Amino acid sequence: MLALRLLMAALVAAGTTVPVVAAAQQDVAGQLDYAYFKTSVQPIFTAKRPGLVRCIQCHMQATGSRLLLQSFAAGATSWDDEQSRKNFETVARLVSPGNPAASRLLMHPLAQAAGGDPFHAGGKHWDSQDAPEWRILAAWVRGQTATGASR
Ligand code: HEC
Repeated sequence: MLALRLLMAALVAAGTTVPVVAAAQQDVAGQLDYAYFKTSVQPIFTAKRPGLVRCIQCHMQATGSRLLLQSFAAGATSWDDEQSRKNFETVARLVSPGNPAASRLLMHPLAQAAGGDPFHAGGKHWDSQDAPEWRILAAWVRGQTATGASR
């Protein structure tokens, strides 16, 4: 009986701490829309830009950076839902919700003359903050959802 009571006490203790942590994580991720990420942001990583290598060609393998995207399954040309969710978690850590200019994902591949970082080993993929792809990333960081409503 004592063992059972101790177990119950442990469960109650766990029950009071675990949801607090989960809620804190949800708060940050909750500002970034998963569906918009999957349908609009992810295709940017697979798109070909003239004179440049696709993001995935480098970032599906270790580059020594934090951007490590999931590898496609054999024969696939995109990510399934489970892989997309993992990508979402990875990429969400490289942005500052609500603040595109403070987001590594947006500033690193952006030309320095357009406000970007001085150097990205993978090249500068956008020469203006008006570039359509950059605007999609900025919209996502600002809370754009797949249904069009901005949070
Ligand atoms: C030719 C290979 C290559 C390509 C293509 C490439 N990258 Fe990179 N990227 C790297 C390497 C290597 C690094 C680490 C060194 C550095 O920061 O420059 C890096 C770093 C980064 C970082 C910094 C991550 C961190 O840990 O802070 C981001 C963000 C990033 N890349 C985004 C992109 C995006 C988005 C694209 C496509 C638009 C892209 N990269 C295309 C090679 C590449």
